[in-house]
Amino acid sequence: MLEVQGVERQFSGRGGDPVTALAGIDLGIAEHEIVALIGASGCGKSTLLRILSGLDKPTGGAVSLDGRSITGPTPEIGMIFQDPRLMPWLSVRENIRVAVLHLDKPEQERRITQALDRVGLQHAGGLWPRELSGGMAQRVAIARALVRRPTILLMDEPFSALDAFTTASLQDHMLEIWDEERFTLVLVTHDLEEAVFLADRIVVMKPGPGRVTSEMRVDLPRPRDRNSETVLQLKRRLAERL
Ligand SMILES: Nc1ncnc2c1ncn2[C@@H]1O[C@H](COP(=O)(O)OP(=O)(O)OP(=O)(O)O)[C@@H](O)[C@H]1O
Ligand SMILES: [Mg+2]
Repeated sequence: MLEVQGVERQFSGRGGDPVTALAGIDLGIAEHEIVALIGASGCGKSTLLRILSGLDKPTGGAVSLDGRSITGPTPEIGMIFQDPRLMPWLSVRENIRVAVLHLDKPEQERRITQALDRVGLQHAGGLWPRELSGGMAQRVAIARALVRRPTILLMDEPFSALDAFTTASLQDHMLEIWDEERFTLVLVTHDLEEAVFLADRIVVMKPGPGRVTSEMRVDLPRPRDRNSETVLQLKRRLAERL
């Protein structure tokens, strides 16, 4: 269980005035759950995700994982950003290796091969980042996160730089991977369809100050049909809450 209790994050804005990016966020995320965070630009989604990952610290409140507080990055928690952030001077394989340098060489090889396999890039290990399409590069970023076998995967608008067709295929693929690995997934998105298609629960946030204003459960079996009447109806209901 990932628990967010009274989390607050202040930044010092222009001229030193405090900006409250997050105010009193309370959220419990169950093991294996898929949660989508959605809301207007500036409502604190990325800030919250960074705090969950341990990359940033709240100025109030606390985050804990199974009762242990998260105070910094941990291998149990993986993060994927909007851009793949690959190192251009390393091959695909070596980019993934960066995440498992603490393991012995044979275990590194095993894990890298498995991670490439998981994202459907078993033949792309020798390629350079410049040779990859946007979708392939993002798959590499997913592999680099999976190779550490995280129990929690955080994704910040991971598909928003991709075309609609690539996005849909990566969403499908992500669900297959989730089905196999059963990590907890927290996904930031601005795409209503993505939220309804993927999530068990959608958390709606609003800015000024960043806070949770409502939640919506999506009790539909997977795989879901993006064009079904139920999905369209949920999208409409969600749009009313934004
Ligand atoms: N490092 C920082 N220093 C100062 N202010 C910050 C910093 N990071 C975020 N903020 C402010 O905190 C608020 C929330 O930002 P955040 O990036 O979390 O929003 P977001 O919901 O992810 O927006 P978007 O949908 O545009 O990505 C904004 O007002 C932003 O300007
Ligand atoms: Mg953001």
